[in-house]
Amino acid sequence: MRFMKWRQMKSLAPKFAKVLRPYVRAGDKVLEAGCGSAMNTLYVCSLIGAEPWGLDISEVALDEARQRAIQIGLDIRLTLGDIQGMPYPDKSFDIVWNQGVLEHFENAVEVISEMARVGRRVFVAVPRLTLSRGLVQKVKAFLGLTAEDIFYLYTEAQLVELMSRVDGLTFEASGSFNCLYLFSWTWACGVTDRKEEK
Ligand SMILES: C[S@@+](CC[C@H](N)C(=O)[O-])C[C@H]1O[C@@H](n2cnc3c(N)ncnc32)[C@H](O)[C@@H]1O
Repeated sequence: MRFMKWRQMKSLAPKFAKVLRPYVRAGDKVLEAGCGSAMNTLYVCSLIGAEPWGLDISEVALDEARQRAIQIGLDIRLTLGDIQGMPYPDKSFDIVWNQGVLEHFENAVEVISEMARVGRRVFVAVPRLTLSRGLVQKVKAFLGLTAEDIFYLYTEAQLVELMSRVDGLTFEASGSFNCLYLFSWTWACGVTDRKEEK
């Protein structure tokens, strides 16, 4: 899976920070599950004073995240692992989130369930279905994906419906925003444990 280019990530980070900000507090443990370069997590954690964590199945991605954290001067704890079975105890994190990950999984409900197991709050963001089928093919080509690669596009309502199928996860909020020329994102957030609402 090809990573988004630095320039694109740069423009995305403030957008994700804006939507994540209401759900992250200073000192929170923030896990990006499928972190890639962890650019967005590092950005939001540096703004808020939260603790960045990242998990990815790719060593290359983790190396990139490590380098990025060094450049920014933040400590990030990185784990090589599979989002479908993460090596953390239940409720290890204040928030577990990702963007650009869920749309590659057929078993999206199971993936969100695993995020909900290790996190008190779950936040997921995926590309939003606003494009014609023809444009979807162009986006896939742009991302270096073949016709066979899994790449689901969701409407906001569909993403919320996915979350509603996860046991113990209570829907909190959702939204959408545009970014770049082709991309439009939708996100949804839910809580699993209100103990943190101190
Ligand atoms: C499109 S990238 C998005 C990366 C990151 N969220 C970002 O915003 O830059 C998808 C990431 O998911 C990771 N990934 C794919 N399958 C995974 C899995 N089963 N478990 C953990 N990470 C996975 C890839 O290695 C890649 O870094």
